[in-house]
Amino acid sequence: MISEKSVQEIIETAKVEDVIQDYVTLKRRGVNLLGLCPFHNEKTPSFTVSPAKNIYKCFGCGKGGNAVQFIMELENFTFPEALRHLAKKYGIEIEETQTSRESIEERKQLDSLYIITEYARDFYRDKLFNTDIGKSVGLSYFKERGFREETIKKFGLGYALKQKDALTLQAINDGYSIELLRKLGLTSRFDTDFFRDRVMFTIHNLTGKVIAFAGRTLSKEKKVPKYINSPETEIYIKNKVLYGAYFAKRAIRQEDECIIVEGYTDVISLHQAGIENVVASSGTSLTTGQIRLIKRYTPNIKIIYDGDPAGIKAALRGLDLVLEQDMNVKVVLLPEGEDPDSYLQHTGATDFKNYIKEKAQDFILFKADLLLEETKNDPVKKAALIKDIVASIAKIPDPLKRSIYTKECAYKFQVDENILVDETSKMIGAAIKKKRQKEQVNSPEAQKRLTEELLSLEPSPESGLGEIVQKQKNRSSSAIEYQERDIIRILISGGDKYFDADKGISVSAYILRNIEDVIDDFDNKDYEKIAKECRQRLLDKVPTNEQYFLNHADSKIQSIAVDLVHSPYEYSENWKAKWDIILTTQPDPEDNYMKDAIYAVNRFKLKKVIKMIEKNQKKIKDDPDNYMKYLKIDMKLKAIRKEIADKYGIVVLK
Ligand code: CTP
Ligand code: MN
Repeated sequence: MISEKSVQEIIETAKVEDVIQDYVTLKRRGVNLLGLCPFHNEKTPSFTVSPAKNIYKCFGCGKGGNAVQFIMELENFTFPEALRHLAKKYGIEIEETQTSRESIEERKQLDSLYIITEYARDFYRDKLFNTDIGKSVGLSYFKERGFREETIKKFGLGYALKQKDALTLQAINDGYSIELLRKLGLTSRFDTDFFRDRVMFTIHNLTGKVIAFAGRTLSKEKKVPKYINSPETEIYIKNKVLYGAYFAKRAIRQEDECIIVEGYTDVISLHQAGIENVVASSGTSLTTGQIRLIKRYTPNIKIIYDGDPAGIKAALRGLDLVLEQDMNVKVVLLPEGEDPDSYLQHTGATDFKNYIKEKAQDFILFKADLLLEETKNDPVKKAALIKDIVASIAKIPDPLKRSIYTKECAYKFQVDENILVDETSKMIGAAIKKKRQKEQVNSPEAQKRLTEELLSLEPSPESGLGEIVQKQKNRSSSAIEYQERDIIRILISGGDKYFDADKGISVSAYILRNIEDVIDDFDNKDYEKIAKECRQRLLDKVPTNEQYFLNHADSKIQSIAVDLVHSPYEYSENWKAKWDIILTTQPDPEDNYMKDAIYAVNRFKLKKVIKMIEKNQKKIKDDPDNYMKYLKIDMKLKAIRKEIADKYGIVVLK
C-alpha cells in the first residue's frame, strides 16, 4: 500500500493541467483551460481544466476530477497504478505502508506472476539470439519476414526450444516457483514446457507489462496447431486484451483512429512500417471489453480483413457489438489471398496507406452491399437481409447517424424509407423494453437512463441531443435539490472563509449553526453526509477546505465536490437576480461568501419550513381529534415562513 503521506504528496504535486496536456491540447479561456474532451467525441470543446482548483470537468459528458482520476479514467489504471504513474512523472519517491495482510499478499501474488512472465520473455529472447538453433531457425524466420532487430526486441519476440522442459528447469534452478509457472500455463502438470519448438510472441497489457505468450509453429505439419496461446490467468483476461495496444495507444489517440487486424504478425509489420495505430483481435471476433478499451482512445475503428470472403461474413455478424458502443466503424477488404502483412510487403508503406484510406467503406453500407449481392433477386432472402441490416442500424445510439443509414439503405434496397424507419423504431422499442424488464425500473439510475434512451428516439436536428439531455438533467436536479445543493456548494468551496472576521466566525460555522435543527432532514443523503462531515470536523477543530473535498477519499463525495465547485452556473439564477448589484460592484463573486451563505441558509430553511407545513397540514386532515394542536403548529410555522421570506424578500408561491 502506498502511504497516506505519499498519496497526499502526489496529489498535491500533480498539476492537473500538466498531466492533461500530455494527452489533450488545451487553450486558455479566462482563468481556465479548454480543450476537446478525451472521454467522448466532440467537435466543440467543453472539457475545462481549472489550474487554480487543480481539477478538470467536461460539460459535455460530465466526467471530472483531479489528476489522479484523469489518469485512471484515461489509461484504465487502478488508483495505485495512477499514483505510481504520477509519482514517476514527478520523481516522487513512494513510501509503502503495511496494511491488511491480504492486500499485500494479493499484490505480491500478482507481482510475482509478472516477475515470472518477464523472466520467461527474457528466456525466450535469449534463446532466439544466443543459441545456434534459435538463430538459425527462429531469428532467420523473423528476418525473412522482414522484422528488424529493434522490432524483434521491442515486441519481445523469442524462441522456445524443442527440449521438453528447458524453461521449467532453468526457472526452478533460478529459484522460481513451479506453482506459479503452472498457474501461468508455462509449465504443464507433468512439469514440461507448454511452448516448445515455436517462435514466440509476447503479449503485453496496456501498461506494457508481460501478461501472456503466443507460440507459432514453423512446422508445415497440418496436425500441429499454427498458434498456441497462454491460458487465461489472473493477469491475462483474453476478452479484455488487444494485441499491440500498449505500443499503439499513443498513435491511436494522435490519429484518432484504431486499425484492427487479425494477426500478431500484421501488427508487428504495420508498426515497423510506421503505421502504429494498430492492434490485433488475435483471430477471434471482437468483444465488448476490447471495444471499450479502444473507445478510451478513439471512437473511430477501421477493421482490415484478410482477403478471404468466407471469414468476412462470419466476422460481420459480431460487429453489431461495435455499433452498440457508438463507434464509427469502417472496414477495408484486402485483395483475395492477402493479409495486411503480406500486402504491405508487396506494396510498401505508402501504397498500403493509400489503399486503406481509399478502400475503407462504412461498415453498414459494406454489409448491405455484401449481403445484397448474395440475395440478388430473391425477394424472401431480401426481406431477411433488410431485417438483418435494420437490426444493425437499430444498435446505433446516435439518432442522426441512424437516420442517415436508413436513407442510404432505403436507396440501396429500393424500399420505402418509412418502412425502414418503422422497423428500426420497433426494434429499438423492443430493446428498451427488454432492458427495462432487466433493470430495476424504480431505481433513479435506471429511470434516468431510460429517459435518455427514449429522448434519443426523437430525431433531433444537428444532434444537439447531448446538450438536451444534459439540460434536462440539470433542470430536474436543480428543481428538486437546488437549495440543498447551494448549501453544500458553499460549505465545500467557501466553508473555511470568514463569515465575520471580527468575531472569528467561519462561513461553515455560520451555516452549520443555522441549519443544525434540520441537518437530519436533507433529501439528498450524500449532501447530508457532507454537511455532517463538515460539522464533525468543525467540532474536532480540523475544518475543511475546497481542496479537502476535491480530493476526498470517498469518490462519490469527491465527484459531487468537483461538480459543485466547477459548475458552469456559478450562482443560481435567483441568486444573481437578487444580488446582481453586489456582483457588479464586487468584481470577484467568489468573495461574496457572506451574502451567499445567508441567502442559501434561508432558502434552505424556507424549503424545510414549507415541507413541514405541508406535512402538518396533512395531519390536520388525517387526525381531526388533534385538530387544534396542529392548527397552532401550522400558524407558528407560517409565521416563521413569513419572517424568513420577508426578511430576505423571497416570494413564497404557496
Ligand atoms: N490464431 C490463433 N490460433 C490459430 C490460428 C490463428 O490464435 N491456430 C490467431 C493468431 O492471433 C493469429 C491470428 O489468429 O495471429 C490470425 O491468424 P493467421 O492469419 O493464420 O496468422 P498470422 O498471424 O497472419 O500468421 P502468419 O502471417 O505467420 O501466417
Ligand atoms: Mn494472417
